[in-house]
Formats: sequence, structure tokens, C-alpha cells
Amino acid sequence: MLVHAIASKPDELIGLENEYGAHNYHSLPVVLNKGKGIFVWDVAGKKYFDFLSAYSAVNQGHCHPRIIESLQHQASTLTLTSRAFHSEELSLFTEFICTYFGYDKVLPMNTGAEAVETALKVCRHWAYRVKKIADEKAKIIVCNGNFHGRTLGIISFSSDPQSKNDFGPFLPGFINIPYNDLPSLKEALKDKDVAAFLIEPIQGEAGVNVPDEGYLSTAKKYCEAANVLFIADEIQTGLGRTGKLLCCDHEEVSPDILILGKALSGGTMPVSAVLANKEIMDTIQPGEHGSTYGGNPLACKVAIESLKVIKDESLAQNAEELGNYFRAAIRKLNSPHIKKIRGKGLLNAIIIEHPEEEAAWKLCIQLMKNGLLAKPTHGDKIRLAPPLTINKEQLDEAIGIINKSLAILD
Ligand SMILES: Cc1ncc(COP(=O)(O)O)c(C=O)c1O
Repeated sequence: MLVHAIASKPDELIGLENEYGAHNYHSLPVVLNKGKGIFVWDVAGKKYFDFLSAYSAVNQGHCHPRIIESLQHQASTLTLTSRAFHSEELSLFTEFICTYFGYDKVLPMNTGAEAVETALKVCRHWAYRVKKIADEKAKIIVCNGNFHGRTLGIISFSSDPQSKNDFGPFLPGFINIPYNDLPSLKEALKDKDVAAFLIEPIQGEAGVNVPDEGYLSTAKKYCEAANVLFIADEIQTGLGRTGKLLCCDHEEVSPDILILGKALSGGTMPVSAVLANKEIMDTIQPGEHGSTYGGNPLACKVAIESLKVIKDESLAQNAEELGNYFRAAIRKLNSPHIKKIRGKGLLNAIIIEHPEEEAAWKLCIQLMKNGLLAKPTHGDKIRLAPPLTINKEQLDEAIGIINKSLAILD
């Protein structure tokens, strides 16, 4: 029976996914089939504000005309060569992105997790080949509450039991320290076998955990003093999201290794990248690392356009201005159900104060009914992160929906 061919009602579609798809996500009960700018539509034609932006992959807004045009043009020209051959688009992309971020070299990959794995491999090479740490001894300092992806290597240093339970055995060589804790970092750096410190400048998945001012710049100084690489995972915080091009820019920190993903393609396809200077990146030689799709011409073309849009449309500046406005407006609501709003630029989260354990989920369902999509993270936190193309009038309308929806918790 061709059930899939006739299913169109949301319940039927969700039923199909539940029946045939692995249950690895707990999605809101909404089925989308269209997006434009800051809005998405469900299969019944209802319009919603997108306040998740695919976990910050759609900073430029859904189906940005310039990005889609470059995608379509390249899709009908050349999509994949593999790295067995050079491609015009890869050459142009490498120069473009290195100049854009001020690095010597780039290593292109696809998903965020792959880019994190790449950064870890590059830093281990550097540790053995430049820093001269003894074979197999290199360690990487990471923070509790981290989220860097879902591969076995990455979950080996996760502190979240849900991400980790029953997936062992795990990869050794990591030192976990508390986030936003300089004395712990200082102590961990005393170990001479430390190669790198891997950090999210704001912990997104953990619920938009913003470290104290000065944490990143001091951490970078400590790393420099210990001859340890500072690796910034800006997959979620980068590309304008927090009000600067990179979140590290808030403290004028230049990471030794920079990891990008998500909005690097404006939400059209998986594109990620690792940037570093020669001394670090040149430790990787032919045959030591790669990916069939990494650096494909389609991805390169789309990434260049996605980065151009961020600057041409001053998206970081808009995020900075509207982020300040948004947090002030949410505070002004004075809701007894919002314990706290925190964030930077347009990466924000509210912490829900309510006796019911499912209160954040209940609020998200009500927001959905009222035309705004957001998703709880770690129980009581709701991330609020619209595309950076949103304007003040639209934001006011969204704040109105949030205000109205909070009544469900009275
Ligand atoms: C900071 C950070 N790093 C890495 C990842 C993993 O990216 P991907 O889902 O593309 O593998 C994410 C995804 O949410 C992230 O937020």
C-alpha cells in the first residue's frame, strides 16, 4: 500500500515518521513544508516565526534568494569532483574564507561533528609533530556541559549521560573541567601533555551558557603561556549569531583553530570548515585526512555566498542591536514564569520557573499554537534564536506571542 503517497495530514505524516524513522529526536508536533526568511509554514499552510533557526544554521533566513541562486547555478554546473582532482570553486573558496577570517589555511568538511573531529586530529598532529609530546600521550582539555556533536570520539568527552550512556567504550585523552572556571583551567594546563583546550564561546545546547566577561581572553592567555592550542567551536555561536562575526570577537580573541559549520551554507546543505595558521594546518599531509564530499564545488559556491550575505546585510550588527532589545523586552514582561533570560546577540534562552516538570515543553506547544516555533533544551530552558534577518516590528510581534503564550503556565 502506498500510504506515503497519500499521507498529507500532519498526524499521518508524523505517524509515518514514527513508524519508519528511528526515534532519535523528540520533535514538536508540527510538520513543515515551506520556509521563507524568518518564517516557516506547516502542511496546512499555517505560518510560524522560526525561533530556532535549525539550531542557528539559518542565520541568513530560510531560502535566502542570493544563496539559493548560487546553489541552483552551481547545481547545474558541477556538484562533486572529490578531492582526487582540483576544482575551480574549491580554490576560490579557500582564498575567500581564509581572507574573510584572517587565517592561513582551511580544511573543508561537511557536518559540524566532522569539523570538530578534524580539529581534534589536527591538534593531535601538531602536538606530536610540533610540540613534541610523547607518542599517544596528547590530552585535550574540554568543558563540562559541552556539546560538540554526536560521533563516538566527541561523545567520549561529553558530560551528558543521555548522549553517552551505553555507547562505550570511549576514546581516552580528554580532561574535563568546569565551564567558566579559570582556576580549573590553570590547574589542568600544568600537565605538559596537554595539546589543546576545546571550547564553545557560549554553550548553546547546554542552554545558552554565557561565560563571565574576560573568561575567553584570559583562557586564551593561559593557553598561550602553556603552549597549548585554543580551539573555538563556533559552529553555533559564529557567523553573526551573537552580535559579532565570531563570538570570540567580543573579547578580541583569535583562536588557534576555528571550527565553523551550520550557517556556513545558510541552511541549504551540510558545510563545515576548520581554519588555522600554517604551523598547525601544515602538519596534515596527503592521505592523512579527508572526506568525499568535503570541499565539493556546490558547498564552496554556497558557502562563499552565505558569508557574503552575512556582511552585506550587516547581520551581526542587527543581531547585536535586536538582541539587546529582545532581552530588555522579555525582562519587561516581568513574567513570574521566566526565572532568567540570558544570551548574546540573537542567541538567547529563557529559563522557566514552574513546579511542573514539563512546563517548558507545554509553553513551546502553546507558542506553536500561537504561531512561533521554539524548542526546550535540558528540561527548563528554551532557546530563542530567530534568523538574523528579523526586524524590530517582527520581533515585537514575536514578543507579543511569547507574552500571550506564557498565560498557559498561570
Ligand atoms: C557547538 C556545536 N558544535 C558542534 C555541533 C554539531 O554539528 P552537526 O550537528 O552539524 O554535526 C553543534 C550542533 O548543534 C554545535 O552546536
